[in-house]
Amino acid sequence: MSPHETASSHSSPTGSPGHSANVATLPAGVVGPLPTIESHLRLAIEGADAPASLRSAMAYATLDGGKRLRPLLAWHACVAVGGEGPESLPACVAVELIHCFSLVHDDLPALDNDDLRRGRPTLHRHAGEAMAILAGDALLTHAFRVLATTAPEGRFGALAGELAAACEQMIAGQVLDTLGFGGEPEAEQRTDQQRLEAIHHGKTGAMLVAALRMGGLCADGADPGGLDRLSEYGRSIGLMFQIVDDLLDVTQTSEHLGKRAGKDEEAGKLTYPRVLGVERSRALVRELEEESIAALSPLGAPAEPLRALSRYLAVRTR
Ligand code: IPE
Ligand code: IPE
Ligand code: MG
Ligand code: MG
Ligand code: MG
Repeated sequence: MSPHETASSHSSPTGSPGHSANVATLPAGVVGPLPTIESHLRLAIEGADAPASLRSAMAYATLDGGKRLRPLLAWHACVAVGGEGPESLPACVAVELIHCFSLVHDDLPALDNDDLRRGRPTLHRHAGEAMAILAGDALLTHAFRVLATTAPEGRFGALAGELAAACEQMIAGQVLDTLGFGGEPEAEQRTDQQRLEAIHHGKTGAMLVAALRMGGLCADGADPGGLDRLSEYGRSIGLMFQIVDDLLDVTQTSEHLGKRAGKDEEAGKLTYPRVLGVERSRALVRELEEESIAALSPLGAPAEPLRALSRYLAVRTR
């Protein structure tokens, strides 16, 4: 049975009747690193130089929740270019800390104004807005400290450069998503779909590409051709991931997602279902899934977990 044909109660964004894909449905070879990743995230938070209240806000935003997609991408990218998974841990931890920071700030009243994240109150609801802003700042900063103290010798500069560039793109994407294209050169000539691609590649895709490239860079002796394959794969799954996120917002319940559903339309956000419609968005997800898998073909069998992740991302329901 293909991933598009499996059945259960929550229909997948690609239109398969009732497929409830979650990380637990992935093969053990793909999700096996999760306990190691979780314990390293915990150690990273414990090691933060922060007052107890701030450390507990950082822990609330980071631990015991989330699919850990970005760390899994970093780990399996490392393996795909010939490394050992544990070599990627500095990248796994740094990129997830950045992702958690981006979620905390994304949920703030001035941005998406959300009350629910990962099945519980958002950090600003739990600990107040000032603490949420500061915990986001602290997670961002701590990610670079983790790299500075754990990156393989001689590779801090390359890893920090990748992460900083992805943060800049993520913030740029968030600006376009939240405040629009005012002041952008030739903004009025861009179609809605072109605007959407720019938003999605920025706010979401860049960090997925960075997770992959950083994982690859942690592998001893990875060749640049392998990193190029990872980038191409990452561009396809990055766009696919956010199209699916947009589809889930219109097709799932808040209870199932653990975050508020139906909010994009309410906020007047530019999304794929709004611009292309649900069916064409689903078709695009399938195209991007195929593209991503094709990009990995020169990497052979060690890239199999990345192929499995792409198939999962196309049908995930949360
Ligand atoms: C949600 O990301 C934010 C987006 C970039 C769309 P995830 O869906 O990976 O969130 P968690 O980490 O699993 O909570
Ligand atoms: C969030 O996009 C992207 C970042 C956090 C950078 P969304 O606003 O669509 O994510 P959700 O739906 O709140 O998770
Ligand atoms: Mg947002
Ligand atoms: Mg949001
Ligand atoms: Mg969303």
